[in-house]
Amino acid sequence: MKTIQMVDLVGQYEKIKPSVDEAIMGVMGSAAFIKGPEVKSFQEELQAYLGVRHVVPCANGTDALQIALMALGLEPGDEVITSNFTFAATVEVIGLLRLTPVLIDVERDTFNMDVAALKKAITPNTKAIIPVHIFGQCSNMEGIMEIAKENNIAVVEDTAQAIGSKYTFSDGSVKSAGCIGDIGTTSFFPSKNLGCFGDGGALFTNDSELANRLEAIVNHGMKAAVLPRRNWC
Ligand SMILES: Cc1ncc(COP(=O)(O)O)c(C=O)c1O
Repeated sequence: MKTIQMVDLVGQYEKIKPSVDEAIMGVMGSAAFIKGPEVKSFQEELQAYLGVRHVVPCANGTDALQIALMALGLEPGDEVITSNFTFAATVEVIGLLRLTPVLIDVERDTFNMDVAALKKAITPNTKAIIPVHIFGQCSNMEGIMEIAKENNIAVVEDTAQAIGSKYTFSDGSVKSAGCIGDIGTTSFFPSKNLGCFGDGGALFTNDSELANRLEAIVNHGMKAAVLPRRNWC
Protein backbone atom coordinates (compact mmCIF):
# COMPACT_ATOMS: atom_id res chain seq x y z
CA MET A 1 0.00 0.00 0.00
CA LYS A 2 1.34 3.44 -0.93
CA THR A 3 1.33 6.10 1.81
CA ILE A 4 -0.32 9.31 0.66
CA GLN A 5 2.03 12.22 1.50
CA MET A 6 0.63 15.52 2.70
CA VAL A 7 3.09 17.23 0.34
CA ASP A 8 4.28 14.86 -2.38
CA LEU A 9 7.34 16.68 -3.73
CA VAL A 10 8.75 13.58 -5.44
CA GLY A 11 5.41 12.95 -7.20
CA GLN A 12 5.29 16.59 -8.34
CA TYR A 13 8.87 16.39 -9.63
CA GLU A 14 8.22 13.17 -11.53
CA LYS A 15 5.34 14.81 -13.46
CA ILE A 16 7.58 17.59 -14.83
CA LYS A 17 10.97 15.86 -14.60
CA PRO A 18 12.23 16.43 -18.18
CA SER A 19 11.71 20.20 -18.14
CA VAL A 20 13.08 20.57 -14.59
CA ASP A 21 16.18 18.48 -15.43
CA GLU A 22 16.82 20.48 -18.58
CA ALA A 23 16.54 23.80 -16.73
CA ILE A 24 18.79 22.65 -13.89
CA MET A 25 21.42 21.29 -16.26
CA GLY A 26 21.33 24.60 -18.15
CA VAL A 27 22.16 26.48 -14.95
CA MET A 28 24.92 23.95 -14.12
CA GLY A 29 26.41 24.48 -17.56
CA SER A 30 26.50 28.26 -17.21
CA ALA A 31 27.48 28.26 -13.50
CA ALA A 32 25.30 31.38 -13.13
CA PHE A 33 23.84 30.21 -9.81
CA ILE A 34 23.46 33.59 -8.10
CA LYS A 35 21.61 36.50 -9.74
CA GLY A 36 21.93 34.77 -13.08
CA PRO A 37 19.69 35.07 -16.14
CA GLU A 38 17.28 32.36 -14.90
CA VAL A 39 16.67 34.29 -11.69
CA LYS A 40 16.20 37.48 -13.72
CA SER A 41 13.62 35.89 -16.01
CA PHE A 42 11.76 34.38 -13.02
CA GLN A 43 11.77 37.83 -11.38
CA GLU A 44 10.21 39.37 -14.50
CA GLU A 45 7.60 36.62 -14.85
CA LEU A 46 6.65 36.97 -11.19
CA GLN A 47 6.33 40.77 -11.56
CA ALA A 48 3.89 40.28 -14.46
CA TYR A 49 1.97 37.49 -12.69
CA LEU A 50 1.51 39.52 -9.49
CA GLY A 51 1.02 42.87 -11.23
CA VAL A 52 3.70 44.56 -9.14
CA ARG A 53 6.46 46.96 -10.24
CA HIS A 54 9.39 45.37 -8.41
CA VAL A 55 10.24 41.81 -7.36
CA VAL A 56 13.50 41.44 -5.45
CA PRO A 57 14.64 37.80 -5.10
CA CYS A 58 16.49 36.75 -1.94
CA ALA A 59 17.66 33.65 -0.07
CA ASN A 60 14.47 32.66 1.78
CA GLY A 61 11.24 33.93 3.33
CA THR A 62 12.84 34.68 6.70
CA ASP A 63 15.49 36.91 5.10
CA ALA A 64 12.75 38.57 3.06
CA LEU A 65 10.91 39.56 6.26
CA GLN A 66 14.12 40.78 7.91
CA ILE A 67 15.17 42.77 4.84
CA ALA A 68 11.70 44.35 4.60
CA LEU A 69 11.84 45.54 8.22
CA MET A 70 15.44 46.77 7.76
CA ALA A 71 14.40 48.78 4.68
CA LEU A 72 11.75 50.60 6.72
CA GLY A 73 14.48 52.03 8.98
CA LEU A 74 12.74 51.15 12.25
CA GLU A 75 14.34 51.89 15.62
CA PRO A 76 14.85 49.40 18.48
CA GLY A 77 11.74 49.34 20.63
CA ASP A 78 9.37 50.26 17.81
CA GLU A 79 6.28 48.02 17.92
CA VAL A 80 5.47 45.66 15.06
CA ILE A 81 2.01 44.10 15.12
CA THR A 82 1.58 40.67 13.59
CA SER A 83 -0.87 37.82 13.76
CA ASN A 84 -0.56 35.15 16.47
CA PHE A 85 -1.15 32.38 13.93
CA THR A 86 2.03 32.24 11.86
CA PHE A 87 5.32 30.42 11.47
CA ALA A 88 7.96 31.44 14.04
CA ALA A 89 10.02 33.28 11.38
CA THR A 90 7.64 36.26 11.29
CA VAL A 91 8.22 36.94 14.98
CA GLU A 92 11.90 35.88 15.03
CA VAL A 93 12.96 38.67 12.69
CA ILE A 94 11.09 41.29 14.73
CA GLY A 95 13.05 40.20 17.82
CA LEU A 96 16.32 39.90 15.92
CA LEU A 97 16.10 43.58 14.94
CA ARG A 98 15.33 44.50 18.57
CA LEU A 99 11.85 45.63 17.63
CA THR A 100 8.92 44.76 19.90
CA PRO A 101 6.52 42.10 18.57
CA VAL A 102 2.85 42.62 19.38
CA LEU A 103 0.83 39.49 18.62
CA ILE A 104 -2.86 39.88 17.93
CA ASP A 105 -5.69 37.44 17.39
CA VAL A 106 -6.90 36.03 14.08
CA GLU A 107 -10.39 35.61 12.64
CA ARG A 108 -12.02 32.30 13.63
CA ASP A 109 -13.06 31.39 10.10
CA THR A 110 -9.93 32.35 8.10
CA PHE A 111 -7.03 32.38 10.62
CA ASN A 112 -6.03 35.73 9.10
CA MET A 113 -5.38 38.93 11.11
CA ASP A 114 -8.49 40.25 12.88
CA VAL A 115 -9.04 43.92 12.03
CA ALA A 116 -10.90 44.71 15.27
CA ALA A 117 -7.96 43.28 17.27
CA LEU A 118 -5.57 45.36 15.13
CA LYS A 119 -7.46 48.56 15.89
CA LYS A 120 -7.19 47.89 19.64
CA ALA A 121 -3.45 47.10 19.48
CA ILE A 122 -2.31 50.37 17.84
CA THR A 123 -0.22 52.62 20.11
CA PRO A 124 1.93 55.71 19.41
CA ASN A 125 4.91 53.28 19.15
CA THR A 126 3.35 51.10 16.41
CA LYS A 127 5.54 51.50 13.33
CA ALA A 128 4.68 48.44 11.23
CA ILE A 129 1.96 45.83 10.73
CA ILE A 130 2.70 42.38 9.29
CA PRO A 131 -0.49 40.63 8.17
CA VAL A 132 0.24 36.95 7.48
CA HIS A 133 -1.92 35.68 4.63
CA ILE A 134 -2.51 32.05 5.52
CA PHE A 135 -3.76 28.87 3.82
CA GLY A 136 -3.93 30.55 0.40
CA GLN A 137 -6.26 33.33 1.58
CA CYS A 138 -5.57 37.05 1.65
CA SER A 139 -6.23 38.98 4.90
CA ASN A 140 -8.79 41.80 5.07
CA MET A 141 -6.42 44.27 3.39
CA GLU A 142 -9.01 47.00 2.99
CA GLY A 143 -9.51 47.18 6.76
CA ILE A 144 -5.78 46.80 7.50
CA MET A 145 -4.72 49.51 5.01
CA GLU A 146 -7.36 51.90 6.34
CA ILE A 147 -5.96 51.62 9.88
CA ALA A 148 -2.34 51.81 8.61
CA LYS A 149 -3.02 54.97 6.58
CA GLU A 150 -4.94 56.66 9.41
CA ASN A 151 -1.99 56.09 11.74
CA ASN A 152 0.88 56.44 9.24
CA ILE A 153 2.10 52.87 9.82
CA ALA A 154 4.02 50.71 7.29
CA VAL A 155 2.51 47.41 6.11
CA VAL A 156 4.64 44.37 5.27
CA GLU A 157 2.54 41.47 3.95
CA ASP A 158 3.90 37.97 4.70
CA THR A 159 2.73 35.97 1.67
CA ALA A 160 4.78 32.83 2.37
CA GLN A 161 1.58 30.79 2.57
CA ALA A 162 -0.63 32.58 0.06
CA ILE A 163 1.32 33.72 -2.99
CA GLY A 164 -1.03 34.06 -5.96
CA SER A 165 -4.13 34.76 -3.88
CA LYS A 166 -6.16 37.83 -4.82
CA TYR A 167 -7.98 40.45 -2.78
CA THR A 168 -11.12 42.20 -4.04
CA PHE A 169 -11.70 45.69 -2.62
CA SER A 170 -15.19 47.07 -2.03
CA ASP A 171 -14.88 49.20 -5.22
CA GLY A 172 -14.38 45.99 -7.22
CA SER A 173 -10.65 46.45 -7.86
CA VAL A 174 -8.52 43.33 -7.44
CA LYS A 175 -4.89 43.09 -6.29
CA SER A 176 -2.49 40.25 -5.55
CA ALA A 177 -1.68 39.38 -1.95
CA GLY A 178 1.70 40.91 -1.11
CA CYS A 179 1.27 43.84 -3.51
CA ILE A 180 -1.15 45.97 -1.47
CA GLY A 181 0.93 47.21 1.49
CA ASP A 182 4.36 48.88 1.30
CA ILE A 183 6.30 45.61 0.91
CA GLY A 184 5.29 41.97 0.40
CA THR A 185 7.47 38.99 1.26
CA THR A 186 7.34 35.35 0.30
CA SER A 187 9.12 32.01 0.71
CA PHE A 188 9.82 29.41 -1.96
CA PHE A 189 10.53 26.68 0.66
CA PRO A 190 9.82 23.40 -1.15
CA SER A 191 6.48 22.71 0.54
CA LYS A 192 5.10 26.25 0.04
CA ASN A 193 2.32 27.24 -2.42
CA LEU A 194 5.10 28.05 -4.89
CA GLY A 195 8.07 25.92 -3.85
CA CYS A 196 11.56 25.66 -5.32
CA PHE A 197 14.32 23.04 -5.26
CA GLY A 198 16.05 24.32 -2.13
CA ASP A 199 15.61 27.62 -0.31
CA GLY A 200 14.35 30.81 -1.94
CA GLY A 201 12.40 33.96 -1.20
CA ALA A 202 11.37 37.30 -2.66
CA LEU A 203 10.16 40.78 -1.81
CA PHE A 204 7.55 42.78 -3.75
CA THR A 205 6.93 46.52 -3.84
CA ASN A 206 5.44 49.21 -6.05
CA ASP A 207 7.69 51.86 -4.47
CA SER A 208 10.90 52.40 -6.47
CA GLU A 209 12.81 53.97 -3.59
CA LEU A 210 11.98 51.02 -1.33
CA ALA A 211 12.92 48.62 -4.15
CA ASN A 212 16.37 50.27 -4.38
CA ARG A 213 16.85 49.87 -0.66
CA LEU A 214 15.70 46.23 -0.70
CA GLU A 215 18.06 45.39 -3.59
CA ALA A 216 20.98 47.02 -1.79
CA ILE A 217 20.30 45.20 1.50
CA VAL A 218 19.93 41.85 -0.30
CA ASN A 219 23.32 42.46 -1.94
CA HIS A 220 25.43 43.55 1.07
CA GLY A 221 24.84 47.23 0.46
CA MET A 222 25.95 47.01 -3.17
CA LYS A 223 23.72 47.87 -6.11
CA ALA A 224 25.58 45.51 -8.46
CA ALA A 225 23.89 44.15 -11.55
CA VAL A 226 23.82 40.55 -12.75
CA LEU A 227 27.13 38.71 -12.27
CA PRO A 228 28.96 38.12 -15.53
CA ARG A 229 28.94 34.46 -16.56
CA ARG A 230 32.07 32.47 -15.52
CA ASN A 231 33.97 35.60 -14.81
CA TRP A 232 34.08 36.00 -11.07
CA CYS A 233 37.70 35.60 -10.00
C1 LIG B 1 4.15 32.51 7.22
C2 LIG B 1 5.61 32.24 7.01
N1 LIG B 1 6.48 33.26 7.03
C3 LIG B 1 7.79 33.07 6.82
C4 LIG B 1 8.30 31.82 6.56
C5 LIG B 1 9.78 31.65 6.40
O1 LIG B 1 10.17 31.21 5.13
P1 LIG B 1 11.54 30.40 4.92
O2 LIG B 1 11.34 29.03 5.48
O3 LIG B 1 11.73 30.40 3.43
O4 LIG B 1 12.62 31.16 5.60
C6 LIG B 1 7.43 30.73 6.50
C7 LIG B 1 7.90 29.39 6.11
O5 LIG B 1 8.20 28.52 6.75
C8 LIG B 1 6.05 30.94 6.74
O6 LIG B 1 5.18 29.94 6.72
